[in-house]
Amino acid sequence: MPKIIPFTAVLLSGLLAQSHLAAAVGRACDSETRPYSTWMTDSVIARRDAILDSSTQDDVSIVFKIALFESTVIRLKEYYDADSCGQEDWHSYLLEGAESLLPRVLNVTADINAPLDVFATGDAMYHQYDRNSNATYKQVLDTLHDAFNARTRNSEDGLWYYNAYPNLSFLDGSFPLSSFSSLWQTCFSPTNTSIANDLMHNLDLFKDHCHDDSSGLLFHGYDASKSAWWADPTTGASPYVWDRALGWWHMALVDLLEQTDNNNILNQTQRDDVYTKYWNLANTIINDADNSTGCWWQVMLHGGQEGNYIESSGSSMFVYSLLKGARLGYLSGSTPNGVGYTDAAEKCYNYLVENFITQESDGTLGMDRTVSVCGLTDPTFEYYTSQPIDYNSVFGTAPFILASWEHEMFTAGSDT
Ligand SMILES: *[C@@H]1O[C@H](CO)[C@@H](O)[C@H](O)[C@H]1NC(C)=O
Ligand SMILES: *[C@@H]1O[C@H](CO)[C@@H](O)[C@H](O)[C@H]1NC(C)=O
Ligand SMILES: *[C@@H]1O[C@H](CO)[C@@H](O)[C@H](O)[C@H]1NC(C)=O
Ligand SMILES: *[C@@H]1O[C@H](CO)[C@@H](O)[C@H](O)[C@H]1NC(C)=O
Ligand SMILES: *[C@@H]1O[C@H](CO)[C@@H](O)[C@H](O)[C@H]1NC(C)=O
Ligand SMILES: *[C@@H]1O[C@H](CO)[C@@H](O)[C@H](O)[C@H]1NC(C)=O
Repeated sequence: MPKIIPFTAVLLSGLLAQSHLAAAVGRACDSETRPYSTWMTDSVIARRDAILDSSTQDDVSIVFKIALFESTVIRLKEYYDADSCGQEDWHSYLLEGAESLLPRVLNVTADINAPLDVFATGDAMYHQYDRNSNATYKQVLDTLHDAFNARTRNSEDGLWYYNAYPNLSFLDGSFPLSSFSSLWQTCFSPTNTSIANDLMHNLDLFKDHCHDDSSGLLFHGYDASKSAWWADPTTGASPYVWDRALGWWHMALVDLLEQTDNNNILNQTQRDDVYTKYWNLANTIINDADNSTGCWWQVMLHGGQEGNYIESSGSSMFVYSLLKGARLGYLSGSTPNGVGYTDAAEKCYNYLVENFITQESDGTLGMDRTVSVCGLTDPTFEYYTSQPIDYNSVFGTAPFILASWEHEMFTAGSDT
């Protein structure tokens, strides 16, 4: 268990701190201190956890992991000065990670047949295009856009998650879907409202099919054909709430709110609707937090049941989505049940740091208790609780970086 190292961020200049666009220049770090967000970033880079090369375990989730880490660091380095806060070279690693994905993502057939996760690569590709105006990166963005429009959809026009699983939509897919739609509309097609309308439609389908009216949470996914053995006969919903799928959803909502408030992606009706989804869920998530740890169970609504455990990726995602919402003014004060939004997030964050984050002998940070992956082939309680737990999974470390960064901004804000 590492000691919590306090950090002091020194402003390079008041002007830069205010400017959202100050890429590559941000708060400088004091050499005596190391914020967890930057420390974990360096650790992932040192381990080469987010590069597709001959030493990488190339499973179906690797593209999503690299994309997630890239978009995390792209955001982080707008706040921290990468040169003084990173001991590793963040810029070079982001380029190397994006390059490692190119052969795969430049193939439109592969993008049509990949899990929806592939669209989370948009941020990484746009970042390189934006930095270097290199036509290869524009080509890959166009390829992704073509693939997006050619993806298979269900009878209600909802995107399937993956062609290997006909008619199934996974809540996890909301994050890549929303991030790519926001990016495309903002950067390439600001007047084409059909992109936002399609995004809203897909979000509504998730809400309509997956919503658990008794708890207010959303189940892991739905089968639009309602033919899977597990599908609810009325809604098609799967039977359990998986913390990471719900974490992706809540992240997608808060990121979309931020994006639309900056770039007007949605009209007012749509923006209010996303806000309502986000706000309601913030309250229900907090209601379902574990009383003693403040964090969230792998299978939500089944806290304490034998085999279930506090899971670190979904918990980190909720810490991020709650603190970010509080920072941007989407949440203020307490839930209707009287729990402070930032108190709830901080309680879990402290638990994560104390229990799941380890300082390794080589000086890197490690992270435990992240579930590997969960699908919808056989979504029983036993399935969710027996999927392998990975040490240092990027599905845990990247959300932990985001949660830590929000926590650092929160701490800095409450000092002043
Ligand atoms: C593109 O991807 C498809 C499907 O994954 C594969 O069959 C094909 O060989 C790939 N094409 C190239 C040029 O790599
Ligand atoms: C553009 O990027 C590709 C892939 O990273 C690289 O091979 C190529 O050399 C770059 N082109 C230029 C002009 O920098
Ligand atoms: C708007 O975007 C949609 C989806 O990408 C596309 O099918 C349509 O052609 C676009 N419309 C215009 C006017 O560009
Ligand atoms: C998908 O569902 C529709 C009905 O919603 C059904 O007609 C179709 O056969 C299903 N597709 C597959 C491949 O199962
Ligand atoms: C926003 O767009 C939706 C879908 O096109 C439309 O139904 C709604 O009336 C619009 N709301 C406003 C305020 O323009
Ligand atoms: C957690 O606390 C809430 C509110 O005090 C209470 O309603 C609930 O029963 C508690 N749950 C457990 C598992 O102790």
